[in-house]
Amino acid sequence: MSLQGKVALITGGSLGIGAAIAQRLAREGAAVTLDYHTHRAAADTIAAGITSQGGKALVLQADVSQVAGVQSLVSQTVQTFGRLDILVNNAGIEEPMPFLEVTEASFDRQIGVDLKGAYFAAQAAVRQLIAQGGGGCIINISSVHEDLPMVGNAVYCAAKGGLRMLTRTLASELAPHGIRIVNIAPGAIATPINAATLADPLKTRALLAEIPLGRIGLPEDIANTVAWLVSDQASYITGTTLFVDGGLMVAAGTL
Ligand code: BGC
Repeated sequence: MSLQGKVALITGGSLGIGAAIAQRLAREGAAVTLDYHTHRAAADTIAAGITSQGGKALVLQADVSQVAGVQSLVSQTVQTFGRLDILVNNAGIEEPMPFLEVTEASFDRQIGVDLKGAYFAAQAAVRQLIAQGGGGCIINISSVHEDLPMVGNAVYCAAKGGLRMLTRTLASELAPHGIRIVNIAPGAIATPINAATLADPLKTRALLAEIPLGRIGLPEDIANTVAWLVSDQASYITGTTLFVDGGLMVAAGTL
């Protein structure tokens, strides 16, 4: 599954799932750019760990909800490593609240990072991939909530649902260029996005009851899936979503 000679850009690479993906792809030999928004020290620590193992890592700051931000992530990655092969649209936020309480600012923030950010990062990456020739791969870290409704989280669900259709549509549009695009839909993973739930024993127990495999997922569960999906072993997969959720989706279907 070697990614030797490949270059990967991971948005939201300082923490949680994104950090695990950066480490995993670097372990396979890819040079990685870790984008962060707020947590510079965390991104630096992940990058230092990668370089101490002989890998290559670049740390960049960007607000992915700004088109200029994602464009500069791609151009600086190419300036540093000479090419781009893999984009992982991982950066994501959620601000759960009842529908009637959602403000325009909260709506714009969530759609901005979760959907617009992924869209324009893909656009910038695809321009580079086409200019290079030779194809490439885009992975969107979506959510079970691209398909599964979640009361009190409508904006997040709408953003992830949008990501699902974006992937399905782009798969056909980009296939002639040899570019694959695939969504990974994590269930409940132990990351900062779930910190409040996981700090509350009652909420954790309720969540666990919804997961047939009986455990909260780890960032590495997602990172392992990314490593496989971007490799040649998955070269016939595009335009679909892989659920990595301990069975949460199927259990929801049995209620
Ligand atoms: C959300 C979490 C939620 C999980 C399972 C994720 O996409 O970010 O808040 O626990 O889905 O419902």
